Amino acid sequence: MGRCCKCNGRLLCMCLLPCMMTGHLLIYITVSIFVTISYAPPKITIHYVAPGISANTSAMASHPQGPFWNLRLEDGALWNQLQHVWDRRYNPILRGNASRTPDEDSEDDSVDSELCPSCDVAFDLSGVPEQMKAFVRSMHYRRYPLLIDQPDACSSNSSSGSRSAPEVPPLTLLMAIKSQVGNFENRQAIRETWGRSGAIPGEVLRRGGLVHRVFLLGRQDSSTGPHPDLKNLLELENHKYGDILQWDFRDTFFNLTLKDLLFWQWLRRRCPAATFVFKGDDDVFVRTDALLDFLNRRWDEHNLLRAYTNQSQAALDLIVGDVIYNAAPNREPSTKYFVPDSFYKGGYPPYAGGGGVVYSGSLALRLARVSRRVRLFPIDDVFLGMCLHRLGLSPSHHPGFMTFDLPEADRWNTCAYKQVLLVHRRTPKEVLTLWKQLQSLPGGC
Ligand SMILES: *[C@@H]1O[C@H](CO)[C@@H](O)[C@H](O)[C@H]1NC(C)=O
Ligand SMILES: *[C@@H]1O[C@H](CO)[C@@H](O)[C@H](O)[C@H]1NC(C)=O
Ligand SMILES: *[C@@H]1O[C@H](CO)[C@@H](O)[C@H](O)[C@H]1NC(C)=O
Ligand SMILES: *[C@@H]1O[C@H](CO)[C@@H](O)[C@H](O)[C@H]1NC(C)=O
Ligand SMILES: *[C@@H]1O[C@H](CO)[C@@H](O)[C@H](O)[C@H]1NC(C)=O
Repeated sequence: MGRCCKCNGRLLCMCLLPCMMTGHLLIYITVSIFVTISYAPPKITIHYVAPGISANTSAMASHPQGPFWNLRLEDGALWNQLQHVWDRRYNPILRGNASRTPDEDSEDDSVDSELCPSCDVAFDLSGVPEQMKAFVRSMHYRRYPLLIDQPDACSSNSSSGSRSAPEVPPLTLLMAIKSQVGNFENRQAIRETWGRSGAIPGEVLRRGGLVHRVFLLGRQDSSTGPHPDLKNLLELENHKYGDILQWDFRDTFFNLTLKDLLFWQWLRRRCPAATFVFKGDDDVFVRTDALLDFLNRRWDEHNLLRAYTNQSQAALDLIVGDVIYNAAPNREPSTKYFVPDSFYKGGYPPYAGGGGVVYSGSLALRLARVSRRVRLFPIDDVFLGMCLHRLGLSPSHHPGFMTFDLPEADRWNTCAYKQVLLVHRRTPKEVLTLWKQLQSLPGGC
């Protein structure tokens, strides 16, 4: 009996031990499976959402809205199709060396003379407003000769040359103002007020800057519509002031994009060293002295950063204005901004709206280059936004750019203009009056 017991005990040991071990193993596995299943990733706070994406920030991080590698042609819209062709042609991954356009640095660009063989096929012109038709017919052409040039607009040696050289050279601000042949009064009011050229002091910082001024004009005479012939008058004006740039295209609303484009090309040749560029309309009021202060501060910050990071060549990519995000094309056929669905699909990139925008000279040079790869778009502000988008940039908003004017109550309160850099819109008379009032701001402001 005792022997048997002993034998049983050993048997028990030999049986139970592996069973218990297997049991432990099973428990371990079960527990680890539970732990794995119940794991939740840590909560990530999103600090940045790409502009143009309207998803609620708490819901998701920014994500591309379409496939990154979209090789299919967008159906339908003419502009998208044409742009798609260029995007593929200049895509450095798809094309390797071939993506380098021959026009990158030369004056002669083959892109300009390229015609669109299938345009009228892809785009049904019937039922489209007249200005859209005119735009589509000429959108492949962008080389218009200069009728009036200003070769020395930026080689100013006026007053600053005689003084002993300042330790910090003043920044230069090139003011490019879109005007039309007939707007003599607007131009003269600007010359006498906020558009004065030469060494202009800032509002607070005495340093200010060296201001140059050009007006951007197209052609308006009997051949482009019922316009009186003001050619001689314009020549006289240019002889006196030397600040007119005129190109040989019809000066219409949808041709305003050409002014930006041709101005950038002109700047590349005639004024590549400008520190900043202001581009605006001839019916705005600008507080140039305050603008110069703002630009001086940004310029100083940039130079400090440059010295600190030891990147003496780093360029400043600054563009400031009244920024409009998530805008969609206007589909109301009766308005002048109307862009049909068959011409453009999708939203607009962020852009600096109406009246005026300021950007750095180095950015202007980059815009001149990239604009050769962007199809002309009928709305000039949006076209600038599209070019920026292609540079991976987005304009910064500044509350001082009052595109939609001041609140009604503040409009006649001179003190309210303390916060303003630019205000739209003012008649020549209002510009002169406002200028005079702002020269002697009451101390309490
Ligand atoms: C985004 O959030 C706002 C409130 O924060 C809410 O009213 C809106 O419906 C949300 N939009 C979407 C698309 O979820
Ligand atoms: C690409 O460019 C490099 C240098 O510019 C050159 O050496 C190479 O041969 C080019 N390749 C092709 C396929 O053209
Ligand atoms: C300005 O420069 C032009 C040539 O660039 C020269 O003819 C003119 O005399 C200069 N004026 C002054 C005031 O130095
Ligand atoms: C722009 O100007 C060109 C050249 O004068 C002209 O052919 C075209 O019709 C104009 N476009 C618009 C939209 O007016
Ligand atoms: C900054 O650049 C200069 C010249 O390129 C070089 O001599 C110097 O060592 C650099 N300093 C630092 C901190 O990188």
